[in-house]
Amino acid sequence: MPDITFIQADGTEHGLEAPAGVSLMQVATGAGIAGILADCGGQAQCATCHVYVDPAWSDRLPAPRPIEQAMLDCTAAERLPQSRLACQITITEDLQGLVVRMPEFQQ
Ligand code: FES
Repeated sequence: MPDITFIQADGTEHGLEAPAGVSLMQVATGAGIAGILADCGGQAQCATCHVYVDPAWSDRLPAPRPIEQAMLDCTAAERLPQSRLACQITITEDLQGLVVRMPEFQQ
């Protein structure tokens, strides 16, 4: 199981073991990490699972699909080049060490 680090906007870090096959959003919500609301349940329809992928990882993730790209235009916090929807990132063993940061707000 890859180790994933979530960093909240206030700097609080959460290190978790993430089972392959689930989404990054499911890992966060399953662990009760504040800052990932996931109002649509992972359907790429709400943008409340917005995260900033550590720049070291940006090129190592599959590119966002058009539906994710479109929804990233609807994030409450600023969209940055490393913005992604956590529900659209599936955990794989290749993501060992992934670091993502949460924006200050999701709504
Ligand atoms: S959970 Fe709604 S867009 Fe990710």
